[in-house]
Amino acid sequence: MEQKEDKLKEVISHAKEYGFVFPSSEIYDGLAATYDYGQLGSELKNNLKTYWWKSMTQMHENIVGIDAAIFMHPSTWKASGHVDAFNDPLIDNKDSKKRYRADVLIEEHIEKIRQKINKEVEKASKKFGDSFDETQFLATNPNVLRNSQKISEIEEKMRITLENNDLEGVRQLIIDLEIVCPISGSKNWTEVRQFNLMFSTELGSVAGDASTIYLRPETAQGIFVNFLNVQKSGRMKIPFGIAQIGKAFRNEIVARQFIFRMREFEQMEMQFFVRPGEEMKWYEYWKETRVKWHKALGLGDNAYRLHDHIKLAHYANAACDIEFDFPMGFKELEGIHSRTDFDLKQHENHSGKKMQYFDPELNESYVPYVVETSVGLDRMFLAVLSNSLKNETLNDGSERVILSLPYALAPYKVAVLPLTKKDDLPEKAKEIINNLKFDFQCQYDEKDSIGKRYRRQDAIGTPFCITVDHETLENNSVTLRDRDSMEQIRISIDELQFYIDKKVNMKYLLKK
Ligand code: GAP
Repeated sequence: MEQKEDKLKEVISHAKEYGFVFPSSEIYDGLAATYDYGQLGSELKNNLKTYWWKSMTQMHENIVGIDAAIFMHPSTWKASGHVDAFNDPLIDNKDSKKRYRADVLIEEHIEKIRQKINKEVEKASKKFGDSFDETQFLATNPNVLRNSQKISEIEEKMRITLENNDLEGVRQLIIDLEIVCPISGSKNWTEVRQFNLMFSTELGSVAGDASTIYLRPETAQGIFVNFLNVQKSGRMKIPFGIAQIGKAFRNEIVARQFIFRMREFEQMEMQFFVRPGEEMKWYEYWKETRVKWHKALGLGDNAYRLHDHIKLAHYANAACDIEFDFPMGFKELEGIHSRTDFDLKQHENHSGKKMQYFDPELNESYVPYVVETSVGLDRMFLAVLSNSLKNETLNDGSERVILSLPYALAPYKVAVLPLTKKDDLPEKAKEIINNLKFDFQCQYDEKDSIGKRYRRQDAIGTPFCITVDHETLENNSVTLRDRDSMEQIRISIDELQFYIDKKVNMKYLLKK
């Protein structure tokens, strides 16, 4: 655990040192749970957006993208249920005065039991070696069975109490499980209260004339209210999807763990409109498609797991999370939700406008069902950054810090380094950049020894370093160094574009 906490600290400090992420308004000591993306962070973030946007829109002829306003008519949030039901159950520890989400305290307790099961499996796997049958072990070992039973019982109790809004029951569960405050170590808990997560502000310049509006807590509603506009203007036929990337805001009670849980963040959401009754087929399709999209990045298949929701959101009839192995353990990265016809029907009721689709094949009109995929851009950023940051010991015993980002996502694709600052080498290096910059984000660096410059590029994840030396002036060739293998090849300047493109072009990621 301590090692994992150290890893998160390492990620935070690396992100700051190299211009990926800064604490927001740092000169005023920052603002809790808000962060700014720096010069390299913005590039990485843009590349993540492009990967998602292209895979949704360019790769699917029946999905289009929009960019809706953050401010929406206040009735939107009444209709969507967020005014009444977008709450988190809160509990305070009277000794530490720290506030927690009651459901998260219980989920963390469950995770500890799950860790015990994992340890049993690890122990047995070491003991039995190749003959170890994990499935049989999980189904028969008494300790595992006892702990699995415990988890099922706690999950069931949590589901029932939360669904019935039985806040006293949630508190009792925390007490029965003997959950202690991680800060004070005490079980001195207050009652549980509901807390609405939406930020509100006022619209209108004249006092008294103002009306309360909300900062959107999800981008999805901008898609729902535009369902008919897009369907009609785009002549979309069901099944079809509408995708969007944009900011969302939540007054999170416990906002911590760097950019994992922020009050201002970005979502990449897609609503897929389907025939009623076909939603489960599409729910399975999108679960599989989204897991594949994540795994194509090559961060390791074991870094992902699917987790079905215990308590369904007010709009869903099925929901699961794609969890990622963050430095803090497995946590939600993306949600896949079968949202039924809840949102469109609610908007129909509140606006008085029909939100229906005429299906020419069935010759009937209906309110479509919706399957949603929703991934946090900042969480994607943290997943990629934390997984890629490594300390490597090289063959000669020296160490290097490497950010082994997927090549297509790296902020800079190429660094061009003149061996010395004289003999026309800088001019030649700049000439190379002037040719490559139309295809790749390039960086020029002439300061320090070539070894130090390679290390700097490794630390920011640049896939290729081009070194310009005296031989370059003679025969138009350069040294091309690969970040991961550190192999160096001699290559003609004329072949650089073709060679690098084959390795860094996002199309190869999209083809996977
Ligand atoms: N439209 C559905 C929806 O908003 P959600 O599970 O509440 O569902 C979707 O959020 C995703 O948004 C999450 O999986 C997570 O990646 C991201 N997200 C949610 N709250 C966040 C926060 N406070 N900070 C950063 N990302 C967040």
